[in-house]
Amino acid sequence: MSTVASQPRSTIKGGSIYLGGTGMLTWLLHRISGIAVVYFLTLHIFEALQLFGGPAAYNEATEAYKQLWFRPFEMALVLAVVYHALNGLRVWMFDAYPQTTKHHRTVFKIGVAIFALISLAVAVVMLRPLFGRSLAEIFEVKSTGALVYALAIALPVGLPVLYIAWRGSGLASGPMLVSQSSSRPAPVKNGFERFMWQFMRLSGLIMVVLVFFHLTIMHFTNDIEQITGQFVADRFAATPFWIIIDLAILVLAWFHGLNGLRIVLMDYIKRSGTRRLVFGAIGLFGLVWFGAGAAVLFYVQQNAAAMLK
Ligand code: HEM
Ligand code: HEM
Repeated sequence: MSTVASQPRSTIKGGSIYLGGTGMLTWLLHRISGIAVVYFLTLHIFEALQLFGGPAAYNEATEAYKQLWFRPFEMALVLAVVYHALNGLRVWMFDAYPQTTKHHRTVFKIGVAIFALISLAVAVVMLRPLFGRSLAEIFEVKSTGALVYALAIALPVGLPVLYIAWRGSGLASGPMLVSQSSSRPAPVKNGFERFMWQFMRLSGLIMVVLVFFHLTIMHFTNDIEQITGQFVADRFAATPFWIIIDLAILVLAWFHGLNGLRIVLMDYIKRSGTRRLVFGAIGLFGLVWFGAGAAVLFYVQQNAAAMLK
């Protein structure tokens, strides 16, 4: 939930900056990481859709990730998910056990320590392939298509991130959008909002397990180089377990992310006509993309053996 901040503010040249505490900083980063991951997931489903064209089409679409210089961006994605999950767990704990808010400073410090340790481990594993390589190898561009797609993944994330940070920084003219915390009481009057409030917390809890299982397989037990169309067909041919896991992540992450986007946009779009238009368009796109994402998983499941030939 956001609020329009009035204090504490400090005047600096050209504007003023909000000097809120840790609650505001964690809220801003939670919002930014959530929006960045929604954008990634939209592209991630697009990549999966290429499996309709067979493993080679998928390999071509995901070539961008195989460029060594792209590793830090992939690492940023993993760290965004790690941060969002850790802060989401903190929010869930405060909402479920309000008495724990008394220890919020200690909880914050423990969270920072856990994030620092995980970041170190992620950096070592994900950046290891860069060690000992020449600059020419690191900055090798696989193809023009791979370069353009890599930029399409990384660059637009910066725009909403900068906008949200700007609106929350106090440098923007107009009301500053900040909140002391991502934690908010469950709505009591509106049944839909109450259901979504609970869904956000429950889906977040389940995703902590599922998304990190997914990331461990894609980045830790395998290297990104090994993640190909053949790899997908291979594992789908071996057991229906993977389609169940992928469908579960698709339902939870996609709808959690879209509802999160709705919560965020409600803070920035105030006119009801514009809101209806934007939410209608996002809802329609969300359903079509979800249907396509689920369909490609069933397609791969049914055709996995043929894809391997
Ligand atoms: C991995 C485990 C995750 C946990 C524990 C988690 C937890 C949470 C929680 C507790 C909230 C606050 C909900 C509210 O205000 O009612 C939230 C908001 C949000 N989440 Fe997640 N989440 C997770 C994964 C994701 C993923 C994968 C995405 C993107 C696909 C995402 C996108 C968002 C967005 C955009 C918001 C709205 C932020 C705001 O209101 O400022 N989350 N998350
Ligand atoms: C760069 C890191 C990632 C890699 C390399 C990766 C890799 C893959 C691969 C190869 C698939 C194809 C199906 C399979 O083999 O299971 C897939 C599907 C999927 N991944 Fe990821 N993944 C990454 C990050 C994520 C994250 C952070 C999320 C959640 C926010 C996620 C959610 C999904 C979903 C929902 C599907 C199913 C897509 C569909 O049905 O169209 N992935 N991923």
